[in-house]
Amino acid sequence: PQYTVVVPAAGIGQRMQADRPKQYLTIAGKTILEHTLNNLYAHPQIKQVIVALSPEDEYFTHLPLANQPWVKRVHGGSERANSVLAGLDSIDDEDWVLVHDAARPCLAHDDLSKLLAIATHSPHGAILACRARDTMKRASSSQVILHTECRDNLWHALTPQFFPLQLLRSALTNALKQKVQITDEASAIEWADGKVHLVEGRSSNIKVTQPEDLQLAEFYLQHKVV
Ligand code: C5P
Repeated sequence: PQYTVVVPAAGIGQRMQADRPKQYLTIAGKTILEHTLNNLYAHPQIKQVIVALSPEDEYFTHLPLANQPWVKRVHGGSERANSVLAGLDSIDDEDWVLVHDAARPCLAHDDLSKLLAIATHSPHGAILACRARDTMKRASSSQVILHTECRDNLWHALTPQFFPLQLLRSALTNALKQKVQITDEASAIEWADGKVHLVEGRSSNIKVTQPEDLQLAEFYLQHKVV
């Protein structure tokens, strides 16, 4: 089967301190967003990409892929969850849906395949994740260590995240209504007591967040497993 991916890209990416949203910074001759979208569509099980953009976005329309038939644009909302919901609302009739960060251009195709294969075994969905490798500290707001977290079952949540469409829609709608802070889609499902599986993926699937990540992403793109 083939699936649709919703890519929320309506944020402003303040942490990068650049003159434009981080997904429009360039790596190896293309914007991060182009790398991300092209890479998704190049996977044989992806049929469509829905990108949620800020209504004020002035960059996307100039990208060579902007008018490709497999790319659909929707207006994002004030929170990430609103942007994802806008994407979900533009999907007609599908059982499952993927959500992927605009700023993760280095996703390896075999990790995506692995995630898709798990779906039938996990009714509430699954996400790519990688194990915490550093020693993890819980600190006070003044940066004093309170204690060391046991690392054994700590994971970094990555994307793509893969859920039954209606379950994700109602979980996100509910999270917005309850005003719970969510930073990924799985959090909304967890909030609704769903059991989301972790699928171990590569740590090279980084979210380009800080200036130094640009060079790292370029390296991974050149050495990517597809
Ligand atoms: O790096 P961070 O977790 O802040 O990334 C949030 C993602 O959600 C970005 O890709 C951003 O474009 C997207 N977003 C969105 N709509 C918002 C806020 C963020 O699509 N209102």
